[in-house]
Amino acid sequence: MSLGFLVRERRILVCVGSGGVGKTTTAAAFALAGARAGRRTLVMTIDPAKRLANSLGLAHLEHEEQRVPDEKIAAVGARSGGSLHAMMLDQKRAFDEIADRYLPDPEARARLGRNRIYQQMSSTLAGSHEYAAMAKLWAVSREGRYDLIILDTPPTENALDFLDAPERLVGAVDSPALQWFARLYFQHSLKVLGMGGAFVLKRLARFVGSRFLEDVGQFVGENGALLEGFRERARDVQALLRGSDVGFVLVCSPEPLSIEEALYFNRRLAEQHMSLGGFVVNRVHPRGPDAVGRAELIDLLGERPELRGFAGDDEVQVAADLDRTYRDFQALADIDARQIARLATATSGAPHVEVPLFDRDIYDVEGLALINEHLVA
Ligand SMILES: Nc1ncnc2c1ncn2[C@@H]1O[C@H](COP(=O)(O)OP(=O)(O)OP(=O)(O)O)[C@@H](O)[C@H]1O
Ligand SMILES: [Mg+2]
Repeated sequence: MSLGFLVRERRILVCVGSGGVGKTTTAAAFALAGARAGRRTLVMTIDPAKRLANSLGLAHLEHEEQRVPDEKIAAVGARSGGSLHAMMLDQKRAFDEIADRYLPDPEARARLGRNRIYQQMSSTLAGSHEYAAMAKLWAVSREGRYDLIILDTPPTENALDFLDAPERLVGAVDSPALQWFARLYFQHSLKVLGMGGAFVLKRLARFVGSRFLEDVGQFVGENGALLEGFRERARDVQALLRGSDVGFVLVCSPEPLSIEEALYFNRRLAEQHMSLGGFVVNRVHPRGPDAVGRAELIDLLGERPELRGFAGDDEVQVAADLDRTYRDFQALADIDARQIARLATATSGAPHVEVPLFDRDIYDVEGLALINEHLVA
């Protein structure tokens, strides 16, 4: 099977999966494949680790899109007129871009910048990272400069957090408690609040500090247009992600829990009317030829003198150890194959590919090309 059709036909691919499964690597490999298929491709990462920049041969990545030199792409095979850009999301800047749009007044912008609720929202509040990424994805996709945009998602404990993030963030800002509180605060400053409300405010201020209360009041009270902007953007993103030209790529490992999570995510996608692009089962133990005879192992030892180091000069012993290791490895390959079969059955044969566990780290364009032989061949 191949996921090459995704790279040729879709406009947006979102790589999701739990921590460390290979999302960034997969996103970079897809991006390379997109450029090689002749498409103007952008890969966006949120991963502060420098992995994507490194693997694309760039010194570093920034919020501005950077073009990967054509020679880099040409080095691993023929090009056909595509291009490859990469960028790393700067979360704060992504929020500021939205704020700039909805709060044109410079003084109001300056006040917003100092507001600690906004500072929290644009940095550490749960879901703000994901929100920023999706908002940026939406903005870039609207500009129409790329045929294919690939989004690498942040390392989350639970990949599902990503889907829910925009709603959660907007929910936090829209929460009735916050709204009630802002109203109270404003009425209080206008001195029309009854004694009860003023009392509540005073008590609250003792717990959370009056500066905090002021910040909340100002944030919710003064920034109606901006908050509506944030809500609107969340709706835009949801609509964008439901488009038929978007594909979610569920990256997982062949371990049972990881497969389970990918299946669960797939169900959630269906519930949300979002389209599955395909599954990438990464780091699969490849199966070798069945029985490797002892004689063959001893031959192998002749070719790989470094293996002798394991057990001195006792070739028979080394061959026996190797034999055992080989069988263990084959057993792992069998376990993986069963898990992948389970995935295929549970999804009625949804597109999936297996990427083997390589005996080298993937840190350059050549490594990505190696992955592509399995991903999009
Ligand atoms: N098939 C593979 N064989 C060998 N190494 C791999 C393979 N796939 C990925 N790797 C390596 O595994 C490490 C983790 O991969 P990657 O950074 O792509 O995961 P991730 O899902 O983006 O992680 P995070 O959740 O932390 O963002 C990297 O060092 C990468 O080079
Ligand atoms: Mg990553």
